[in-house]
Amino acid sequence: MSAISIALLGCGTVGTGVIKVLEKNAHSIEKKVGAPIVVKKVLVRNPDKLRNVATNATIVTSFDEILNDPEIKIVAELMGGETPAKDYMLAALKAGKHVVTANKDVVAKHGRELFEAAESSHVDFLFEASVGGGIPIIRPLKQCLAANQISEIMGIVNGTTNYMLTKMTNEHMDYNDVLAEAQAKGYAESDPTADVGGFDAARKIAILASIGFGARVTLDDVYTEGITNITIEDIEYARELGFVIKLLAIAKHDDRGINVRVHPAFLPCTHPLAAVNDVFNAIFVKGDAVGETMFYGRGAGELPTASAVTADIIDVARDIRHNVSSRILCTCFEQTHIYPVTK
Ligand code: NDP
Ligand code: HSE
Repeated sequence: MSAISIALLGCGTVGTGVIKVLEKNAHSIEKKVGAPIVVKKVLVRNPDKLRNVATNATIVTSFDEILNDPEIKIVAELMGGETPAKDYMLAALKAGKHVVTANKDVVAKHGRELFEAAESSHVDFLFEASVGGGIPIIRPLKQCLAANQISEIMGIVNGTTNYMLTKMTNEHMDYNDVLAEAQAKGYAESDPTADVGGFDAARKIAILASIGFGARVTLDDVYTEGITNITIEDIEYARELGFVIKLLAIAKHDDRGINVRVHPAFLPCTHPLAAVNDVFNAIFVKGDAVGETMFYGRGAGELPTASAVTADIIDVARDIRHNVSSRILCTCFEQTHIYPVTK
């Protein structure tokens, strides 16, 4: 079968990783899809920037060159931020192109509008990489655990802050030095206040709660406190008492409704999440039939995130091959009472 042409919006940490994975595993991916996947165009801001990857794709600076190219069937949005990412995704969906994204800002805030646009155009809209980096969590929650009433989703969902807290705990590194290290490794958001302020984790838990509980949970519903006030002294004090400090994201669904929060917490050293270090994330999901499940892996970084994005691209490519469309992961959200966190 002829190649399936795709376009990437963005060629930073994640976009570079996607090009590398598609190239390295081209043979096995072609066998899985039944056709080769070819990156035809890549949108960037600065075409003169030196890239950490070689590609035969055409580098463009105008989104219209992608939107108006009928050969491009899949658009992978890997730019980040709300604007123009949301507008580009919406335009692509309305033009009948399938969209894959790693953008939790847009999914958490404008998910519904994008799901609806995908549904009307009968195309796929997938966002596995938006939570947990390389960890499979969106599909498991929506599909594999669909038989359950989910009562709790809880864990570490931000790689940057977990990396920072680990280094501050184990190597007594200074807050600003370790943040700079996380940025250099490509873990942090372009504005790292989203990581250290807890907003990135808040977006992710809002997405997970919306999917897991089938409810509309927005960022405004999440009580959010980051790690900006955590000092080496706090970490030492915790250690003396047999605890570690972790930034937790917690969503609960009970008789009162839904409660969602992000904040640093003291965890006993024996708690399974206390052993989740560096850029790793871990998410517990509790269902009434399955009991407790745990998802663990690298929560950020070039190749782990590319693993999730590329899997979405492969899934869409398979749908194109088999003429299946409109596999949107969630459209129906019930209005559910969100109750506030009491301190
Ligand atoms: P980077 O900042 O490394 O890369 C962003 C890319 O998008 C760059 O190539 C940049 O172009 C391009 N870009 C940004 N704005 C525009 C614009 N207006 N027009 C054209 N091109 C633009 O980001 P990441 O790769 O780290 O992140 C991408 C997305 O993936 C974000 O939504 C992020 O939250 C998400 N994500 C990131 C993870 C990670 O570990 N980094 C993990 C999971 C999700 P140029 O290179 O020319 O500047
Ligand atoms: N900045 C994010 C993190 C990237 O550190 O977890 C992955 O979503």
